[in-house]
Amino acid sequence: MSDGPRAAPQRFFPQSTRHLLGVQGMHPTRIEPFLDLAESYALMNRSRKTPRDRLRGRTVINLFFEDSTRTRTSFELAGKRLGADVINMTVASSSVNKGETLLDTATTLNAMRTDLLVVRHAQSGAPALLAQKVDASVVNAGDGTHEHPTQALLDALTIRRHFGGLHGLTVAICGDVSHSRVARSNIHLLTAMGARVRVVGPPTLIPGAIGALGVDVHYTMEEGLRDVDVVMMLRMQRERMTGGQVPSAREYFRFYGLDRRRLAVARPGALVMHPGPMNRGVEIDSRVADSDQSVIREQVEMGVAVRMAVLDLLSRAGEPT
Ligand code: ASP
Ligand code: CP
Repeated sequence: MSDGPRAAPQRFFPQSTRHLLGVQGMHPTRIEPFLDLAESYALMNRSRKTPRDRLRGRTVINLFFEDSTRTRTSFELAGKRLGADVINMTVASSSVNKGETLLDTATTLNAMRTDLLVVRHAQSGAPALLAQKVDASVVNAGDGTHEHPTQALLDALTIRRHFGGLHGLTVAICGDVSHSRVARSNIHLLTAMGARVRVVGPPTLIPGAIGALGVDVHYTMEEGLRDVDVVMMLRMQRERMTGGQVPSAREYFRFYGLDRRRLAVARPGALVMHPGPMNRGVEIDSRVADSDQSVIREQVEMGVAVRMAVLDLLSRAGEPT
């Protein structure tokens, strides 16, 4: 195959949108080209035939200041399956340890003529700051508690493959919403696409002002899961918690863990999702995580396809139509 599939993306990708920093404010006409192109990359991945010349000569650098298994690996695979040169910068052994700042690190990589910079950072807004300083397209791979846009895209693609669309579905996002960039990006994307979103969790882990994002709030799983089409579980993000917010794992599971009994109040056949990494026995029971209703592995598969679409479309930003 000589050229990748084209979803008429240029119309939606003027120069100013050559970065992917978040989902907030994204119109469905910008979201859909990512999902459509990812859908075709998912098929190509299954047949092991991907357009390896699509990003030939382009350089992608993965710059991860926080731990990652899925996101970093799938960006690496995505770049390689499209023929890009992909570099994983290991922050732990970089000159960051000698006191180099984030901005100096990024401008150094920029001087090497990087085309796409994939950034994960503990500080909300770090990728947006870099985007102002570098020529490369910047992709936010998770910034603090702010956003994780490619996770929301891969979740949307997974849901769309099962229901044919997102409009009119009810999705419950459950657990530690306060510290979750996954929750925030999903709320923006799902509501933009016409889904109804509920957030479910303990009052200490649900931000007071979350209703302003157009979601319904529930404090019990029994209420929040009633008749939903999709149950999206979140990890308790202890690394971002301060003392009083951290319940014991046992107590948390007792009230907010997803088990078969709680899942039974959702619509029959409701999808069970989790962005990973999972903490089994804390937010989710293994019998649910490994059940037929679970699409957790499919989420991971769609993650590669979505990241291929993101690298592809961003690398075409500003091309003439
Ligand atoms: N992996 C996701 C993130 O980095 C979710 C999580 O870590 O719980 O945001
Ligand atoms: N879902 C997710 O972002 O996983 P990683 O933290 O392993 O990348």
